[in-house]
Amino acid sequence: MINTEALFKVSYGIYIVCSGNKEQGNGYISNTVFQVTAEPVRFASCCSKKNYTSELISKTGSFSVSVLHTDVSPEIFGKFGYKSGKDIDKLKGMQIKYGLTGVPILLEGIVAFLECKVIDTIDVGTHLIFIGELVQSEIIDDSQEPMTYQYYRQVRKGLAPKNAPTFMVKTKPAAKLDEIKPKKFRCNACGFIYDESVENIKFADLSPDWVCPVCGSEKEDFTEIISESI
Ligand SMILES: Cc1cc2nc3c(=O)[nH]c(=O)nc-3n(C[C@H](O)[C@H](O)[C@H](O)COP(=O)(O)O)c2cc1C
Repeated sequence: MINTEALFKVSYGIYIVCSGNKEQGNGYISNTVFQVTAEPVRFASCCSKKNYTSELISKTGSFSVSVLHTDVSPEIFGKFGYKSGKDIDKLKGMQIKYGLTGVPILLEGIVAFLECKVIDTIDVGTHLIFIGELVQSEIIDDSQEPMTYQYYRQVRKGLAPKNAPTFMVKTKPAAKLDEIKPKKFRCNACGFIYDESVENIKFADLSPDWVCPVCGSEKEDFTEIISESI
């Protein structure tokens, strides 16, 4: 048996992985960055082949990892997690610096950053795992807590608005909602999908001052998804 709920019991952090250079830089949100060896210090980062950043890491042979903190602005999620650098310049107007290898490093909303030089790449089908050796690392704001994936899912998504208790329910069997077919609504700004079958509360019943848990857009900025082919 496979219980997909068990997958959410695995812990992760939340990071911005950047690559490229001054002329062509980009980054994406990742929850799959982890240290793989201590001597030498090496990190792995799992990146979809479809991500623009994946192309840049393959090209430049290096990447940076910015460790997001719990107070990071929601717009960072909208921009770096739901939009592609193929379409927009994500680093424009952001606070960044360039590392020893020339890669951009995002400095906003972070506790610390790492910079790694790729020493191996593993093809795992849909994704590439880049193994990088640490070339530098720095603490930027030690007063902040690193964000975890659980925090992102439960606090940013469920408890940030005033009517937080209505968002507490993460996953309930769809059978409890089967009288009315659950609907889905997409945030026009960041693409976040509010899925009634997961949230267990109808979109229409959310308070008018509820906002997108990812980028902070208003409730009225959501559009109902009519087709299932999304
Ligand atoms: C919370 C969160 C975690 C994510 N984790 C990963 C990840 O580990 N690997 C990945 O390839 N994409 C991940 N993504 C998706 C990318 O951030 C997203 O596809 C991004 O738009 C890719 O940007 P790019 O095309 O500019 O590189 C995650 C997104 C979110 C919101």
